[in-house]
Order: sequence, then C-alpha cells, then structure tokens
Amino acid sequence: MLPKINPTATPTWQLLKEEHTVMQAVKMKDLFTSDKERFERFHLQLDDILFDYSKNIISEKTISLLLKLAEESKVKESIKAMFSGDVINQTEHRAVLHTALRNFSKDPVLADGEDVMPQIKKVLRKMKTFSDKVHSGEHRGYTDKRIKYIVNIGIGGSDLGPLMVTEALKPYFEEEIETFFVSNVDGTHIAETLKKVKPERTLFLIASKTFTTQETMTNAHTARQWFLKKAKDEAHIAKHFVALSTNEAEVVKFGIDKKNMFEFWDWVGGRYSLWSAIGLSISLSIGYKNFEQLLKGAYSTDQHFREAPFEKNIPVLMALIGLWYTNFFGTQTEAILPYDQYMHRFAAYFQQGNMESNGKSVDRSGKPVDHATGPVIWGEPGTNGQHAFYQLIHQGSIKIPCDFIAPAQSHNPLGDHHVKLLSNFFAQTEALMNGKSEQEAKAELEKQGLDADKISKLLPFKVFTGNRPTNSFLIKKITPYTLGQLIALYEHKIFVQGVIWNIFSFDQWGVELGKQLANKILPELENDQAVTSHDSSTNGLINAFKKMR
Ligand code: F6P
Repeated sequence: MLPKINPTATPTWQLLKEEHTVMQAVKMKDLFTSDKERFERFHLQLDDILFDYSKNIISEKTISLLLKLAEESKVKESIKAMFSGDVINQTEHRAVLHTALRNFSKDPVLADGEDVMPQIKKVLRKMKTFSDKVHSGEHRGYTDKRIKYIVNIGIGGSDLGPLMVTEALKPYFEEEIETFFVSNVDGTHIAETLKKVKPERTLFLIASKTFTTQETMTNAHTARQWFLKKAKDEAHIAKHFVALSTNEAEVVKFGIDKKNMFEFWDWVGGRYSLWSAIGLSISLSIGYKNFEQLLKGAYSTDQHFREAPFEKNIPVLMALIGLWYTNFFGTQTEAILPYDQYMHRFAAYFQQGNMESNGKSVDRSGKPVDHATGPVIWGEPGTNGQHAFYQLIHQGSIKIPCDFIAPAQSHNPLGDHHVKLLSNFFAQTEALMNGKSEQEAKAELEKQGLDADKISKLLPFKVFTGNRPTNSFLIKKITPYTLGQLIALYEHKIFVQGVIWNIFSFDQWGVELGKQLANKILPELENDQAVTSHDSSTNGLINAFKKMR
C-alpha cells in the first residue's frame, strides 16, 4: 500500500513556497556567473547517459528541500512497495510489476504470494524461439514464403511503446523485415497498411491486454477477413496471426490457438507493457538479442533507482525538478525534445505514459487534491520543432520546462549533419537560459547598421527574457541498452511524482468513460431515425451526420 500523505500538509511544502518566492527573482545566468562549478554540482552520469540539470531555477537549498519533500512523502518506502509486488494499484486491486519483466537478478518477485519470474522467463523464451524461427525462415507463411511484414494491431500502450522503440532502433532492424503499426479505428489506417503488405508474407500480432478494445478488435477482424480472402482456408490463420494478451478466453474466441498466444499478466499496466509480450514486434523487428539489451538497459536503471541515494538518483531528481515547476511556478506543460529523428515518437509515448498515469485529481483517500498534478506532455524532434513552436518557448508568456535529448554519436554520420544538429541542441538550452538583454539586442542592431529610430522601434521585440529551464540528456549513442535505460528513467520519474502528489498513477478511469459513451451511441448510428436521447448539440450533430453520410 502507498502512504496517504497530502504533500501540501508536509512541513517542507511551506518551506518550498518560501523558497519559490526567493528563487523566482533569481536569474540562472547569475547562478552560473557566481558559481563556476555549477555544472559539476548539478549533473549526473548513468553509464553512457549524462543528465545535466544545472540549467534549472534551483539552488542547493532548493534541491535539499525537494529531497526532504520526497522523504516526507515516503518515496523510498513506495519504491520498495512497487518492486516487491505490493498491491499499489489499489483501485484495480493489482500489483505494479513491469519492473519484474526486466529483472535479471536471481531474486524472486512475488505477486499475490507467487513468484512471477518463472512465468516471465517462460514467455521470454517463447518470444525468443518464435523470433528466431521467423528470422531463420523456419516459421514461414502458408505458401512456404518467408515472413517479411510484421503488422502490430493494438492501441495505446499496446501500440505506442513498440512503435516508439522500433522507430528509435531502426538501425538495428533484421534484414528483410518491415514492421507496421495499426491503431486507429479509422479504416484508413488499416486500409493504407494492407496496401503495403502481402498476405502470404505477413504476420499479424493482435496486441491487446484485454482483447476487448473496440479499435483493436475491429482492425483485427478486418485483417482476418482480408487475409482469408486470399488464403481461403482458416487453417492458414495459425501461421499468420498471433495474440499478445492477458485474456486467453477472448483470444481463443477470436480464433487464435492458445499455442499462438504470448501471455502477460494483469500486473503489467498497458502503458508499461513494451517489456512484456507486447514487445514481440520489437523482438521480431530488431532480433531477440537486441530486445534483451533493451530489457537489460531498463534493469540497470531499476537498480540505479532502487539503490542510488536520492541526491544522486536521476529519476528522483527528474521528478522533483518537474514538480518544482508544476507546483510552485505553476507551469502546466513540459516538452520533450529529442535531437534524434529516430526518436520522433518518444514524446508521444511519454504523453500517454505521463498523462494517463498522473492526469488525476482525486487523492489516494478519494478526496479532491488541493494541488496541481500531471502536466501536459508534448514535443517533437529538434531541429524541426525549432522552426515550428520554439518561438513560444523562447518568447511566450508562459514558462515551459523542456527536456533536451541527444546522442553524441549518430547512426548516420553523414558529412557535418550531426555537428550541425548538436550545435543546435547546445545553442537552444544556452539561449533559453541566457536570453538576450536589451543591451545585447541593441548592440546587435547597431552592428547591422540600423539607425536609432529603427532600433528603438525594433528593440522590444528583439529582447529575450531567458531564465527558461531545461534538462539535457546527452547519450553516447542510442542503442537498445541506452534506450531501455532512458525509458525506465522517465517511467520512474512519473512514479515518484505520483507518489508525492498522493494520487494513483496506475489506473485510467478517465479513458474508460470514452469507451462506455461510444458503445452507447454506436447502435444509434445503425439506422436513419432521428435521435432525441442526448442534449441538443449531440442530437443535432448525430442527426446531421445521418443526413450527410
Ligand atoms: O487507453 C486506455 C487503455 O486502457 C490503455 O491504458 C491501454 O494501453 C489501451 O487502452 C489498450 O488496451 P488493450 O491493450 O487492453 O487493448
């Protein structure tokens, strides 16, 4: 069980409020000028990942107060509770054990008194054997051709994780394999995907924890019909459809043999499931060895998270710094900006990870919270974002804490592309911190030869207030291992924040509402009769749709 401590009632919360009144007047630029060791003081290293958090509006005192808040909120005890299989997802009465999926120690992990490690290892072995067979050509399609196309059909956590990872690790792809992800119930998604693949060379992975999700089941049935149109015989389904799920009964009902089911368990949250059988598309795309490296990377972060003292603990510091801005500066969004084109879905993945986890406003006692919780997460790769939305980050009226992520080594070292990319990565965080004073802007305009009148008109627009906070992650190279480490850092950040905010991070009742409502309206769309059962707007829209279709 997690503690029920209102963070605003802790002795440290008040002190942090006072600290904020001091720090909001402080310029980071001045902190760097007065302390030549600031980078030394405020950066950490986890193997090949350098985490620089010095460009934040923090002092040693701020950090020590935030660490105190973590202590008073019983973060240490909560970490222990999660790793040891306590039922910390209380509203769904489940343990939270995605960390067991990447546990490479010999220690047992208990859920409901039972060691889950043997079943995890069994499924991992099955994933390995199957991936190897597909890659070696031992597992072939019904016409005896090799499998070339992997189509993962899933949504939310059963899509975003594997999609993000397979994109991020494109350089590691097995020869001949092409992987597609279909998530949207919009028929366009599956229709466009099926145009690119051939039934006799395609393996469909039906990825759904519950195996009841409307979007996934609709796409799965469409894929099945499309396949049978060509293959004719239902007996061929076995070679071309596998299920990744916790729900054996529904899998069998769909027509997939349980031999072709890769199992996982209810203690794996959907948005934390890429480490489980949901990762089969990863293993099939980049090979099991690389998938295992991804797990090992995450395991190394898990050890760091459990063992490092909080002042040297990267996910704890990521969480506390984020919370500092959300709760004391009143920021409402955070941007994740990878300077790596392969990582173009990283922000989207943690949009679900973070917002589905911490988008809650009821505390662990069932009462409304009296403080802000999860921020809006968004982002795109640099430098594209620079030419789209960075204007607001630099000169907008709100502060947006940003995470900048970049690999030191590129998988595509073409000419001077990478140094150009990285020069932008370094320049942006520097500029966001320093800004540009009136004096500096004026000197620049003078240098351009503008006359005094023009300068005075233009000057206000050329000033940058700066003092905009960033974290930088410099990673030697994006490999399966370092990516696994990085993902787990973000996962644990979300966990620590949820603990301190006194909310349940592992349920998602808000999403259930949409599912219920759509199921209610669906039958009403099946005829041409006017509907009157909703508010006038909804009735009006539905009735207009019936006329337009
Ligand atoms: O969107 C809500 C949600 O429950 C997510 O948490 C989950 O990842 C997604 O739906 C898909 O669910 P399933 O894997 O059961 O199809």
